[in-house]
Amino acid sequence: MSDPVYVTDALIAEDIDAYLVSHQHKTMLRFITCGSVDDGKSTLIGRLLYDSKMIFEDQLTALESDSRRLGTQGQEIDFALLVDGLAAEREQGITIDVAYRFFNTEKRKFIVADCPGHEQYTRNMVTGASTADLAVILIDARKGVLAQTRRHSYLVHLLGIRHLVLAVNKMDLVDYSQDVFDAIVAEYSRFARTIGIEHFTALPISGFKGDNITVRSPKTPWYKGPVLVEHLESVAVDTSADRAGPLRMPVQWVNRPNLDFRGFAGLIASGSVRPGDAVRVLPSGKTSTVARIVTLDGDRDEAVAGQSVTLTLADEIDCSRGDVIAAADAPPEAADQFEATLVWLDDEALHVGRSYWLKLGTQTVSATVQQPKYAVNVNTLEHLAAKTLDLNAIGVAEVTTDKPLVFEPYARSRTLGGFILIDKLTNRTVGAGMIHFSLRRAQNVHWQALDVSRDQHARIKNQKPAVLWFTGLSGAGKSTIANLVEKKLHRMNRHTFLLDGDNVRHGLNKDLGFTEADRIENIRRVGEVAKLMADAGLIVLTAFISPFRAEREMVRAMLPEGEFVEVFIDTPLAEAEARDVKGLYKKARSGALKNFTGIDSPYEAPDNPEIRIDTTAMTPEAAASLIVDTLLGDL
Ligand code: ADX
Repeated sequence: MSDPVYVTDALIAEDIDAYLVSHQHKTMLRFITCGSVDDGKSTLIGRLLYDSKMIFEDQLTALESDSRRLGTQGQEIDFALLVDGLAAEREQGITIDVAYRFFNTEKRKFIVADCPGHEQYTRNMVTGASTADLAVILIDARKGVLAQTRRHSYLVHLLGIRHLVLAVNKMDLVDYSQDVFDAIVAEYSRFARTIGIEHFTALPISGFKGDNITVRSPKTPWYKGPVLVEHLESVAVDTSADRAGPLRMPVQWVNRPNLDFRGFAGLIASGSVRPGDAVRVLPSGKTSTVARIVTLDGDRDEAVAGQSVTLTLADEIDCSRGDVIAAADAPPEAADQFEATLVWLDDEALHVGRSYWLKLGTQTVSATVQQPKYAVNVNTLEHLAAKTLDLNAIGVAEVTTDKPLVFEPYARSRTLGGFILIDKLTNRTVGAGMIHFSLRRAQNVHWQALDVSRDQHARIKNQKPAVLWFTGLSGAGKSTIANLVEKKLHRMNRHTFLLDGDNVRHGLNKDLGFTEADRIENIRRVGEVAKLMADAGLIVLTAFISPFRAEREMVRAMLPEGEFVEVFIDTPLAEAEARDVKGLYKKARSGALKNFTGIDSPYEAPDNPEIRIDTTAMTPEAAASLIVDTLLGDL
């Protein structure tokens, strides 16, 4: 990529400092263009870059020969995007397929996110739209409002973009007909109203010919509104609304260079703050007053939304990364259950009940999603029943977090109402969410402090609690070996308890079957029970297929370090099937038994189990001895 060639202001050549100063004070508008390749999106962007004379040298020729796709094609510019959290994804080396282009006019600086239009690119659109102030929806004048127009409009509205431009493009191909334009605008208005879009600006343009882009076209004398660039230069970039709200500052980090200074650094999401203001730290609810507002340029009397500052407080109260400093008398909510709209962004569908990382601003918590209340067909806006959400699906569901989350409804704050979900194992961003409201049902349940601790429970038994978690295919030998291990431990006066899949499914989990969601719930419950028993001081053995890595890791994370011992009973499928002790493989192969592990339901083997038993090389007796020795050797 060559450096940009500025062919613009004479000022640059004459006085670079004056040029830079004049640019520093320009406001910046971020916008997104939506439309498929055929709608002329790239030509339009090319035209904007070209007319504003911000063009990359090697692209000039491309543009002049009616470029189909002008710009930094194939190049991915790393950019701070979609909530803080996508950074995590970039660290994993996964790039994001949205091209960002920059251009200037006399009045403003612009960043335009160019997102591919097809349905499979919803992910990119969500990424591009999450930081945009304005969206340009492109329509081919010959085709009118398409399903894609509706889908894009729905998404940008959902993502809270307040300024919408309907650019009716290719007017040159419909003889600059006012009737065509009016009909499209009328149809779009009807649709826009149904999804709650209050206003939009419609323009007749031709990206290819340059009509009504930077200069008024003589071909559309009937059009009296602004030309595109004029409009882009004049829409209010809405920081005033943010400034008016109550103070919200998510704490990014705690700055403590020495014992005398403790500052809380962050970007003010809304409101303003002055020394002496009463503030409340969420979720703890502790209050204090602001002592100083510190910046690199010295202390300030006031800071407002959009500024990054460090606050010091008058009192030594607990406050750390992820907390939110807010106006004391108007704090945001903190809750661990809420309803949200989710946009699913991963090839692998949502796993209902699975634990994901949820990142909202600077907060990271564990979260599970319930079965969606409904999914939305974005083309027809119908609500559909849904068991899960597939790639690009949009739905509404309840989300539960393991810790209270400080938030505001997305409609009020994109910063404190938008979140992403991250797969704990792959680190991929799998979903984006927008919070509607909290569910208060968990608010009245508190944790009761008990006087006899888990240590005391274990001490009286003279042992260290543990959970021996057996995993493996059906018929691998989990129950057989676990049973032998328990007998050995029992003989050694250890206090044990064995939870076995087939048995637990007769009682506690008799309402569960073998769908993916049911298996996840099965393991969640068993994990909770195993944890309670370990709290009671027992050595717990569990024998469940537990086919998913994520749920096994979830149980591991519930227990103190070292207490979860994963025992992989490694019997190849062919061997388990040959043994077929319960005759279930035969049934599954014949199709009489559905969702059978290893046949038509997956088994994810442990990557790094504490103990691995190869049952083709070892008797159950020998395996049991090895497990007991490893366990007690470690204790
Ligand atoms: S898990 O996948 O949710 O961990 P769990 O260990 O509780 O499974 O139950 C597995 C046992 O249920 C098997 O050993 C087998 O006896 C029985 N079973 C019945 N149907 C299935 C099925 N579709 N897949 C696996 N096991 C099944």
